[in-house]
Amino acid sequence: MRTIINKSNNNNPIGFFDSGVGGVTVYEQVKKLLPNENYLYFGDTKNMPYGEKSQTQLLEFADKIFKFLEDKKAKAVIMACNTTSAVVYEKLKNNYNFEVYPIIQSVAKEISTLPIKKIGVFATHATINTHCYKTEIQKHNPNMEVIEIACPGWVKIVENGQEKSLEAEIAVKEKLEEMQKFSPEKIILGCTHYPYLLEVLSKFAQKETFINPSIEFAKIIQQDLKAKSLLNETIGEKFEKFYVSKSPENFKKSASMFHEIKEIPELVNL
Ligand code: DGL
Repeated sequence: MRTIINKSNNNNPIGFFDSGVGGVTVYEQVKKLLPNENYLYFGDTKNMPYGEKSQTQLLEFADKIFKFLEDKKAKAVIMACNTTSAVVYEKLKNNYNFEVYPIIQSVAKEISTLPIKKIGVFATHATINTHCYKTEIQKHNPNMEVIEIACPGWVKIVENGQEKSLEAEIAVKEKLEEMQKFSPEKIILGCTHYPYLLEVLSKFAQKETFINPSIEFAKIIQQDLKAKSLLNETIGEKFEKFYVSKSPENFKKSASMFHEIKEIPELVNL
């Protein structure tokens, strides 16, 4: 992570982005730890699912969103999206005037210290194709075996608010059975949309099996912003503002499992 210290901008917002409501699982954790911040969130619902897009497309989407958040004076941007962290973070990380926090690279070290030998990862096609989780975890612990399985279809189920449907149950059961053949001791929910499926996942495996990396990610962000003296210490009302590229009402409804959004998100065409 680059260090960009500009003490004058601590009151500026922290930006988040994802292809849709997935990043709200990260937002929720960060907001809990840092209630005194201003927040912006961009959900690129027009272009979801990111997991089925090429690197060229993802570079274009992420760059536009970074620039949008830069125009809005974000002091830090949280890539609340495993797919863009895996596919475009390395290429874009130095291009903007704010701190950039990618989820996978941030949490891998902590995951690598778990007292287990074999870990599973559920993630999107694009994330799995990069082997980013495996590479990042094994950088710190070459002895941890990492089993990676792509779960296409899960993101759309979540975006459509169908977590409790039969379709969700069938989709989840199929991938879990595939994963259980390898007997991992833990399974990382390596896409920020997947914690919405925790309840249905828990019908087929113990809830404690699953790791939601957002919890650790939020702690790392808090520590890093503090270390860089970037936390907002001003007194007074704070704001949160959501933007989407398609279907604002649907976004508000689907996100509600993790966060009650007060205003309808603003529709933005980047
Ligand atoms: N939630 C994102 C992730 O963590 C993107 C999922 C998608 O749009 O395919 O990977």
